[in-house]
Amino acid sequence: MREGSSPLIRREDYTAPAYWIRSVDLSFDLDPAKTLVVNRMQVERNPAAAPGQPLRLDGENLNLTRVLVDGESVSFRVEHQQLVLENLPEAPFTLEVRTTCAPEKNTQLSGLYTSGGGFFTQCEAEGFRRITYFLDRPDVMATFSVTLRADATKYPVLLSNGNLVEQGRLEGGRHYAKWVDPHPKPSYLFALVAANLVCREQKIRARSGREHLLQVYVRAGDLDKTEHAMNSLIAAVAWDEARFGLSLDLDRFMIVAVSDFNMGAMENKGLNIFNTKYVLANPATATDADYAGIESVVGHEYFHNWTGNRITCRDWFQLSLKEGLTVFRDQEFSQDLAQSPSARAVKRIEDVRTLRQHQFPEDAGPMAHPVRPDSYVEINNFYTATVYDKGAEVVRMMQTLVGREGFARGMTLYVQRHDGQAVTCDDFAQAIADANPGSALATHLDAFKRWYGQAGTPRVSARGHYNADARTYTLDLSQHGLPSPGQPSKQPWVIPVAMGLIGPRGEHLPLQLVGEDAPVGTERVLVLHEERQRYEFVGLDAPPVPSLLRGFSAPVLLEDGLSDAELLHLLTHDADAFNRWEAGQRLALNRLLGAIRGGQALHLDAPFVEAMRTVLRHPTLDPAFKELVLTLPSEGYLAEQLEEVDPQRIHTVREAARLQLAQALHHDWEWAFEAHQVRGGYSPDPVSSGRRALANLALAYLCLGASVTRDPVWPGRTYQRFKDATNMTDRLGALSALVNSHAELAAPALERFHAMFRDEALVIDKWFALQASASENDGRVFARCRALLSHPDFSLRNPNRARSLITALCFMNPAAFHRTDAAGYVFWADRVLELDAINPQLAARVARAMDRWKQLAEPYRSAAREAIARVAARAELSNDVREIVTRALAD
Ligand code: BES
Ligand code: ZN
Repeated sequence: MREGSSPLIRREDYTAPAYWIRSVDLSFDLDPAKTLVVNRMQVERNPAAAPGQPLRLDGENLNLTRVLVDGESVSFRVEHQQLVLENLPEAPFTLEVRTTCAPEKNTQLSGLYTSGGGFFTQCEAEGFRRITYFLDRPDVMATFSVTLRADATKYPVLLSNGNLVEQGRLEGGRHYAKWVDPHPKPSYLFALVAANLVCREQKIRARSGREHLLQVYVRAGDLDKTEHAMNSLIAAVAWDEARFGLSLDLDRFMIVAVSDFNMGAMENKGLNIFNTKYVLANPATATDADYAGIESVVGHEYFHNWTGNRITCRDWFQLSLKEGLTVFRDQEFSQDLAQSPSARAVKRIEDVRTLRQHQFPEDAGPMAHPVRPDSYVEINNFYTATVYDKGAEVVRMMQTLVGREGFARGMTLYVQRHDGQAVTCDDFAQAIADANPGSALATHLDAFKRWYGQAGTPRVSARGHYNADARTYTLDLSQHGLPSPGQPSKQPWVIPVAMGLIGPRGEHLPLQLVGEDAPVGTERVLVLHEERQRYEFVGLDAPPVPSLLRGFSAPVLLEDGLSDAELLHLLTHDADAFNRWEAGQRLALNRLLGAIRGGQALHLDAPFVEAMRTVLRHPTLDPAFKELVLTLPSEGYLAEQLEEVDPQRIHTVREAARLQLAQALHHDWEWAFEAHQVRGGYSPDPVSSGRRALANLALAYLCLGASVTRDPVWPGRTYQRFKDATNMTDRLGALSALVNSHAELAAPALERFHAMFRDEALVIDKWFALQASASENDGRVFARCRALLSHPDFSLRNPNRARSLITALCFMNPAAFHRTDAAGYVFWADRVLELDAINPQLAARVARAMDRWKQLAEPYRSAAREAIARVAARAELSNDVREIVTRALAD
């Protein structure tokens, strides 16, 4: 926790550093209680900066023991967590700083810390200053050489960035290793590991002919869970070469898994450090979703090697330069690996679902901020869905506006221009536009860049009108944005609207705009850049149904006024799988929202049920796609569509809908379950995982149905399947079906599951999370969560474990969390305060569960405000949590 309260940092205040650090020589004498760090830097004045400025090095929680300039001791002072040196030589000089720190006391997991008996680092964004004094900002890039010394028995593996140049024994049972990283890098990309680990390794030869050594380091018992991570890494190396011509620039590339980690993974140069959750997988312990997560996170961190590491951010306001772009790249990677058009669409639907579930609410709440924020108190609070997922959509729109090849050209130009530099989002957009002169992006570049500066989700309205006499179809598009914190009014965005027109028999109509000589294709991208624009399509013999925003071509809220009949037409005929899914969701949404708003009981009408049956029984649609269509919009997504939210009402209505689908489609679910069994060995490929997903959904509905009929057959079969399963996807699917239908067999199954996996931390996380996200049933789920807090396996110190219970309840289970007796909010406030004393970054993430409190109906709203105010009233709060609760309470 920092002392005092930190100031607001503003983007407009950026100035270049007064000094550069060109190279760093670090030496570590590693000891959990007291580690000595000797830091020798080559420093020079920045001729472009104002002269006469002191050198101010950042440092946090360090014991400073010595400062030498060119070998001589000098006077210095420490103020505001900075080491300040004045009267420095004009010429380049050597600065040596000695400090000590206590890794075993570092519960924040930022800087140098211990986990499972080893040493690990996490430096992004500002963790390096917790290791040594430095210009801890991304525009200062230096070459690093690092010497590690540690006990040889406890820490046989000593790693840092770059290449191993020397190693050997030392006195007293210690040993050392020296690493040199030839690539200049900002301090946030530094890493070291000293631990007792083993590794899977593989040599690969790149297209260029260069050989590389790939390694995945884990604890001794986990080697059998590293194959998928290694395969994902090999695939990532090949993909970046094939799609963007970007190859690996290191002889050795290492991934290290650690069980205490705040985030998913970190792209340190040549030495990625990963949360075990995104490395370890075998069929017995990991689900299909885990396999997919590993593939995308391994890809993501690898892709940062170019987009982030070789070309980095000038300042942290530019975070989306590397994160938005790299999320886009990992999404494309997974789509390309999935291959079939249907599997690609499934991945796109999942990504959009994530965006809507996390980013849209963020953009509508107190934490709303532009993709490139204007200010922050704590940068860790701005690793957000907006910077990441909306940032990725902004890059995707650029690709849509210049085409796939044009985008690849733009990437090449970006790398050519900026390799080795610390740059801005403007530089990126400029490169993509410059590589595509005459494109819609180049034409509208300044307006397009409003996507970086304006917060809030644009609202797009579409209205079509068919004129039978003229055989024309007029499409009117308009846009507007609601006010967001600090931004009362918005200018028009540049919005690519991919679209098609579908005829009465489901045919995809040739598209010809008035003034064009002939129709061009059946799909095109309209570029909405003014407040309203009109498009007139000609040569149409009958009124078409518009299919708009195909593939979710822009991150907007579309209001198109389509009737149920038109939505059914799209669900049946649209060639765009995304819009086909969207039509199904909209049909469900109309019914659910109607019942929620109207306060009446939900009744699913026959046409809707028949449409769902048709999709489920469809002869050619893929099972993975069917599973997405037949999954109702989540309670969280429903809440976002409402002006005032009663979470209990939403839960009641959605559960009623689920039950009706369970009953009305009973035989279809039986068929779906039987017809989608996967035989043979486990493989996480899209086809098998799609079949498992649909079979598990069927099982969930069958158990739900049985909870009403009291027929013991399906719960019994499910329990049997739970016991016999040969992979975690099927086992967890069966367990989840029992738990979420409140079956009597749920309790023995949970007990058995725990006993089976008591030594598998990542599986025990699932055990907690499943119970905490279970469908609420008369408060029993919440009561269980409270009881689980004192389970011997529960701990707030391990982020994965803390999240498995707290995040699952407070973010993923609205009906268990939002209670009329306010007990959920009390639980939340207590956990935020407890966590804040241990790990403020994690506490601040949990704190965000209350972001949308102003949307709640009474009595939730008042109780929520009271809970937030209680947290805010705590004097010794971290800046991390302080910033979140202050924003939440602001008007
Ligand atoms: N650079 C981040 C990790 C990070 C984030 C470090 C915040 C410090 C503070 C990394 O590249 C990343 O984005 N990881 C994501 C996963 C990714 C697939 C989106 C994560 O950790 O959640
Ligand atoms: Zn990243």
